[in-house]
This record gives sequence, C-alpha cells and structure tokens, in this order.
Amino acid sequence: MAERETWGTRIGFILAAVGSAVGLGNIWQFPFKTSTEGGAAFVFVYLVAALLIGLPAILGEFVVGRRANINAVEAFDRLKHPAWTVVGALGLLTGLWILSYYSVVGGWVTRYIVGSATGAYFAAPAEYFGRVSMGWEAIAFHGGFMAVTAGIVAFGIEDGIEKATKLMVPSIIVMLVGLAVYAFTLDGAGAAYEFYLSPDFGFIADNLGTIVPYAVSQAFFSLSLGMGAMITYASYLGDDDSLFADGSLIVVLNTAVGLLAGLVVIPLLFVQFGTVPDAAAGGGAGALFVSVAQAFADLGMAGRALGVVFFGVVLVAALSSAISLLEVVTSYVVDNYGYSRPATAFGFGGALFALGTLSAWNTAWLGWFDSLAYGVLLPLSVLLGVIFVGWVYGPEAVDEIQKGTSNGGSFATAWLWSVRTYVLAGVFVTLYLGVTDIYSAPPIPFL
Ligand code: PHE
Repeated sequence: MAERETWGTRIGFILAAVGSAVGLGNIWQFPFKTSTEGGAAFVFVYLVAALLIGLPAILGEFVVGRRANINAVEAFDRLKHPAWTVVGALGLLTGLWILSYYSVVGGWVTRYIVGSATGAYFAAPAEYFGRVSMGWEAIAFHGGFMAVTAGIVAFGIEDGIEKATKLMVPSIIVMLVGLAVYAFTLDGAGAAYEFYLSPDFGFIADNLGTIVPYAVSQAFFSLSLGMGAMITYASYLGDDDSLFADGSLIVVLNTAVGLLAGLVVIPLLFVQFGTVPDAAAGGGAGALFVSVAQAFADLGMAGRALGVVFFGVVLVAALSSAISLLEVVTSYVVDNYGYSRPATAFGFGGALFALGTLSAWNTAWLGWFDSLAYGVLLPLSVLLGVIFVGWVYGPEAVDEIQKGTSNGGSFATAWLWSVRTYVLAGVFVTLYLGVTDIYSAPPIPFL
C-alpha cells in the first residue's frame, strides 16, 4: 500500500485544524447564541467549557487520529476496538447533518458579498435579511456554496485546504479587531459591554439547565469536535509533534476569534437597537448580518468595499470549515470503498444540498436542525469518544499523547484523569440537559 501523505509542516497541520475550527461557529453562531442565551453568562460558561472540556476532548481526538493513521471510522478498528466504530460513524453522521445547514448560512454570506457590492441591504438591514435568508434565493446560494465545497474536496487535501487557510486566519483577526474598535467608538455601544462581559452568577445558577447545553455544545461545534474532523486531520500528523502544544494553540486561537466576533456583533446590535433584538426584529440567526450591515451602510461607499472584504473573509472561513466536514466522509469512503474522490465529494455534496433545502426554505427548519445537533448529536458523539479514550484506550492513549514532548509524563496522567472523570461527567450532564430540553419542547417546524 502506498505511504499515506503527512502534513508538510507542523504549521500546515495547525493551520488546517484552525481553518476547520474557525468558521461560522465562531463568527455567526457564537455572537448569536450569546445574544439569545444570556450574554455574559453564556460567554463565561463557554470559556470554561472550551478550556476545561474542549481542550482535553480535542486531545483525545488527536490521540485516536494520530495513533490510527486512518479516517475517523476505521480508526477504531485499527486500534483493535471494532465495536467503537460506531463512534466514528456517529461523528460522520453528525458532521453531515451539520453541513446541510452550515452550507445554507455559507450561502447567506455569499449573498452578502453581492449585497455589499451593490449596497442592497443599506436601506433596511433587518428587512433585507428576512428576505434573503429563506426561499428560492437562499436555496440557490446554498447550492453554490455546497458546489464549491465539494469542488475543493474533490481536488484533495493538500491543494484544497492548506493554501486557503494561510491567509484566512490572520485576515479574519485583523478585520474583526478593526470592526470591534470601530464599534467601540459609536454612541450607544456602552451598554453592550456590560451585557457581553459582565456575568451575573446568580443568573447562571438559575439558568444552568439551558446555558450549559448551549454553551458546552457551542464549544464542541466551534472546535470541530464530535464530527471526526480532528481525528481525520490528526491522522496525517507525524510522531514528532506535541499534541498538547498544538491543541492548546488551536483552542486559544479559536476562542479568541469567537470572542472578537462577539465584540463586533453585540456592540453593533446595541448601537442599532439599543438592546439585543429577538429573531423577529433581526436578531437571532440574523445577528451577525444585521449588525455589521448597519455599520457598513453608515460608512457609505467605503462600507461597500469593506462589506465585500469582510464577507469575503468570512466566506473563506466558512469554506475551510465546510471542507473539513465533507473531507471526513470523503476520506472514509475513498479509503474504504475505492470510489473516486470527485465522485464521492460531489455525491455527498448533492445529497446534503437536497437535505439543506429545508433549512434554506425556512429558518425554522434551520433552527430545528441546529437544536438537534446541539442538544443530542454533538454531546452524544463527544461523550462516546471521551469514554473510549479515557476508559477503553486509556494506557495506550497516555503513551500516544506523550510522543513529541520531552517531559509529558505527569501532564499525560493529569489529562487521562480529567478525561476519565470531570470531562466525562460534564459532557454527560450536557447531553442529559440537551435531551430533556429538546424533549420538553420538540421544535419540529412546518414547511
Ligand atoms: N468548527 C467549525 C465552525 O466553528 C464548524 C465545523 C465543525 C467544521 C466540525 C468542521 C468540522 O464553524
């Protein structure tokens, strides 16, 4: 069998993993969930979850991927635990489920590049969002986004992914910092910082049941966990990399981008609405689009150019994430069934386009797909992965995680302990709360 390709450089892996992690989850979803799920309380729980649960969990996926050196489904077989293949399969399913509506939002972003160039949303940002976020136009842009994603995956990992991400991460940070500073100078932004940055612990305690499942699952979504993506990426990793160093860098960068996006969106919402508006008023899923749209409109001609660049960069971030979602299933099918890469990528892309038309037709469906991903699929998939790494694969995982580090012994033991105990408990509670939340109000929408 041919030698499997590995990342050309350590930075290549980090960029690709960050490219997968940084996406609509940070820029669109994190500010929007912050606005609807309690502001700073949500942010606080999210930060704790990203560091204390997300980091150990991402290391677990790296361990499985690098050790097995194969796609996320067969990885468990290769590690001699074939029954756990269900974890890989569930991750695959979760990723596909999410990609179906991720692409719809990617379509909105694309639509806003055009809308920025023509100034189409300048007069009435909230009304414009309501018009382009659902219906035939949304379906068409969703189709375009999915086609480009499939096209890039069809050409293979090195060419498609590594190049696009190199520029994306620095430029997204520069754009967000610029916009955050601009928002800070506007009248009416002041109250936003209180809402966004000053958590009320009494509120957290009273609303733990809803904040925890959203915030913890948000950390999983944002770090690309529970979808086989990090397993697949780490499978291309050499033994001389420190998983802990790479993982920490990825978590920190990813969290920073989310926080920055919040520093843009929340203040801009307050400037425009004096509060965080509900979905009907242009908040909710529209929060990113409606908030920056107004800022660009206020900047006139310069706003058009800025809008094109901003949504252009967001599009690259969305694409590099969508690519990694599709890559998981493509690499499995290509490795295992010998279908051609292009046929596989376009086949799945076409099927997911069809599934995603529901979300593009009506954002109520998008919300339903999203709730099921957050409340059930993500926490279940991460939970099973954590049980596997901690309790089934334990000692070998410790051996694997130490490779590429000089004195990883005590760290590795601490990591295993955390995965076996509180990480597992935290993810379990998240799943429990997520399931009861969904069960108490099943949000199945009408067409
Ligand atoms: N983490 C990505 C985001 O925040 C989404 C994603 C999840 C991408 C899983 C790939 C795999 O947008």
